[in-house]
Amino acid sequence: MEGVAPDPSFTPTQLAARAAYLLRGNDLGTMTTAAPLLYPHMWSWDAAFVAVGLAPLSVERAVVELDTLLSAQWTNGMIPHIVFANGVDGYFPGPARWATATLAAHAPRNRHTSGITQPPVHAIAVQRILDHARRRGRSSRAVADAFLDRRWDALVRWHRWLAESRDQNSRGRITLYHGWESGMDNSPRWDAAYANVIPGAVPAYQRADNSIITDATQRPSDVEYDRYLWLLEEMKAARYDDDLLPKVMSFAVEDVFVSAIFAVACTVLAEIGEEQRRPRSDVRELYGWADLFRGGVVESCDERSGAARDYDVRAERWVATETVAQFAPLLCGGLPHDRERALLKLMEGPRFAGHPDLKYALIPSTSPVSRDFRAREYWRGPVWPVMTWLFSWAFGRRGWVERSASLRREGLRQASDGTFAEYYEPFTGAPLGSMQQSWTAAAVLDWLG
Ligand code: SER
Repeated sequence: MEGVAPDPSFTPTQLAARAAYLLRGNDLGTMTTAAPLLYPHMWSWDAAFVAVGLAPLSVERAVVELDTLLSAQWTNGMIPHIVFANGVDGYFPGPARWATATLAAHAPRNRHTSGITQPPVHAIAVQRILDHARRRGRSSRAVADAFLDRRWDALVRWHRWLAESRDQNSRGRITLYHGWESGMDNSPRWDAAYANVIPGAVPAYQRADNSIITDATQRPSDVEYDRYLWLLEEMKAARYDDDLLPKVMSFAVEDVFVSAIFAVACTVLAEIGEEQRRPRSDVRELYGWADLFRGGVVESCDERSGAARDYDVRAERWVATETVAQFAPLLCGGLPHDRERALLKLMEGPRFAGHPDLKYALIPSTSPVSRDFRAREYWRGPVWPVMTWLFSWAFGRRGWVERSASLRREGLRQASDGTFAEYYEPFTGAPLGSMQQSWTAAAVLDWLG
């Protein structure tokens, strides 16, 4: 076409080299920032995906990433969603706004962290590290084994905290008290719950994200940010106390997608535990949580389509939205055969990855035919490569070789522009959000590794 620059397209070898170079560039030494400017610290689930991408390059460096994250684990077991890099500014809300070191009894004293959590994908990273270590020499294997000796208890405590503190009534679903905990900050999934968050006196603040991503159509709105910041104040008033949050937070949702991730992560960790001869009681407990949460996910699903729903704890109602989270049960399994087939059809059909106008056959964060769809706006429409990786990984695990390969192939085609964007416009394939996002590079490295 005249006037349109040809797509830059890198070969797999070039792409892998660029991805490795990118991770090196974002590496502060013992932590990899989630992205150079927008996210200049360590994010919990980013760190896990980064470890997945580092594993084929260096098992040793991948282990360091998880060690750094786990060294900031709270004494109650929570892995915080941000571990702040020392002396790095430019992100809001930073340590002073969270004030966890002074308010939270369980926060570490030697590291600054946020006061909320993020999806528990870490067991997946540990498994990928062990896989790579097995293929390497004896010294890499020794590093991975020593990591597991060192951190097994911490990983089990992390899972126990989720199962006990975030599912206090044993419903088999994880409760979140902030949309940021889902990782899908402004997904339409949370619109109804956020509508009931009425900000009180939010101390003055200045966003930093929108001076980095200056196109406002790519980021959450100011109204959304007021609510995000108000929830922080509610948590601070409760001193981040696990027993108080259920009583005082005006936002409380059971997140079906996090619950599905948790179910599969419990199975993965249990399998690692069995293989590596960890205490039987731990393994039993992990399998127990996997069953409970798989059941909780299935219980949320629509009778016919199998589509998963979140539960708004405050409004006491199920919330159905046309988002990627509908496909949660495909990650962890458990749906009866006919409903699983229906759900796969939905995913691959014209409401999602089979929409005729999509540039790549990938799952958009929100259905392009949904009223809530915005092609450029963060979790309201764009395709997130890290989601593609997660589904591709899960489908491989479930034995769906073709589906897994197809997501990998399309994901690589999308990433071959070499920007390693945080998310992409589904119709044009335009890169959006932060460029050089670490987890996008990590996905590519795993696929090409
Ligand atoms: N994703 C959030 C942000 O954009 C925080 O986790 O800052």
